[in-house]
Amino acid sequence: MFGNIVAIAILVAIVVGLALLTRRAWRAKRGAWLKWGGAILAGLLTLVFALVVFVAGKGLAAMYIPTSEPAPNLKVEGTPEQVARGKYIAYIGCAGCHGTKEEFPLAGGFDLAADIPMPIGSLVSANLTPGGVLKDRTDGELFRAIRHGYGKDGTVLALMSLMPYRQLSDDDTKALIAFLRSQPATQTQTLGGDNINLLGAILVGAGMFPAPDPVNKNPITAPAKGVNPEYGKYVATFGECRGCHGPNLTGTPASAAGDAIPDPRPIVSTWSRDQFVQTMRSGVKPTGQAFPQGMPWKNASRMDDTDLAALYEYIRSLAGK
Ligand code: HEC
Ligand code: HEC
Repeated sequence: MFGNIVAIAILVAIVVGLALLTRRAWRAKRGAWLKWGGAILAGLLTLVFALVVFVAGKGLAAMYIPTSEPAPNLKVEGTPEQVARGKYIAYIGCAGCHGTKEEFPLAGGFDLAADIPMPIGSLVSANLTPGGVLKDRTDGELFRAIRHGYGKDGTVLALMSLMPYRQLSDDDTKALIAFLRSQPATQTQTLGGDNINLLGAILVGAGMFPAPDPVNKNPITAPAKGVNPEYGKYVATFGECRGCHGPNLTGTPASAAGDAIPDPRPIVSTWSRDQFVQTMRSGVKPTGQAFPQGMPWKNASRMDDTDLAALYEYIRSLAGK
C-alpha cells in the first residue's frame, strides 16, 4: 500500500508538471508552432496521466476502503458431523489454493497472482489453520469472508470475492468453519492476503477483472442430496465448475485473468454417466486423452458417487439431454 501511495504521488506530480508545461507552452510568445504544438502535446499528456491517476485511484479505493457491513454474530458448534462435512467440501473446494500440494492442513502461502499473465502484485492464499488467521477471527468474520468475500477490516478479499462460495448454504458454510478450526495449528511465514501494485490497481479500476457477484443477504439452504440436476447444480457450484466454465457452463472467453475455457456440455453429453465418473476420477477422457493442465480434475475426483452422478445429470440437462 505504501508503495502505491508513493507511486500515485509521483503520478500526481507528473500531472501537475505537465499541466504547468501546457500553460507555459500556451503562453509562449515565440512562434505559433511552439505555442500550438507544445500546448497540444503537453495537454494530451496531461490528460493521459490524469486518467491513469483517476483509474488507479479508483482501483485502490475499491481494494482498500472498507465497504462491508458488520460481520454476523454467530457461533459454530463444531459437531463431528459439521467437521466431516466441512472437510469434504474443503478438500474439493479450498485445498487447491489453501492446501500444501492440494492437501491438508490448509496452511496457505501460495501466490495466486503468479498465474495471472500480468504482474499485478500478489494475492497470497491465507493460512486457514488455528495457527494462522483463525486465531483472531470470529466465526461471524469467517462466515462473512466465505459468504461475502470481505476480510477482518471490511475491505474486499480480491480473490475470495470472486469465488462461488457466496452460494454455499448456511449449513455448509458453518461446516467449513468447523472443519477449519479442527485442523492442527500450523505456523507459516506469511498469513496470506492481497498486495496489489499500481498496474493491478489500474486494471481493477478499469474493470478488467470480473466484478464479484452481488452479495446475498438471505439465508441459503442447499437442495436435498440426490442424483438430479438441481442438486448437481449445487455440486457444480462448490466444485467450482461454474466458476471457470461459466454460470451455465457455456464456457468463458479469454480475459485479463486468463485464457478462454471451453464449453463442457457437448463432449459430456456424448459420454455415459460411468464414463463421466471415470473421466473425473482419472483425469483421462474416454478417448484416452488426458485433461490439459488447466482443468483441476483432482478436485472433482474427490467427490462421492452421488455428487458426481448429480453433476453429470446437471451438465446433461444444460445440454438439453
Ligand atoms: C482460487 C484460490 C482460492 C480458493 C479455491 C479458495 N481460496 Fe480462500 N483465499 C484465497 C486468497 C488468495 C486469499 C487471500 C485474500 C484474497 O485474495 O481473497 C484467501 C483468503 C481466504 C480467507 C480470508 C482470511 C482472512 O484474512 O480473514 C478465508 C476465510 C478463506 N480464504 C477461506 C476459504 C475457504 C473456506 C475456501 C473453500 C470453500 C477457499 N478459501 C477457497 C484463495 C482461494
Ligand atoms: C480452474 C478452472 C476450471 C475448473 C474449476 C473446472 N474446469 Fe473444466 N476445464 C478447464 C480448462 C482450462 C479445460 C480445458 C482447456 C483445454 O482443453 O485446453 C477444461 C476442460 C473440461 C472438460 C473437457 C472439455 C473438452 O472439450 O475436452 C470437461 C468435461 C470439464 N472441463 C468439466 C469440468 C467440471 C465438471 C468441472 C467441475 C467439477 C470443471 N470442469 C472445473 C478449467 C476448469
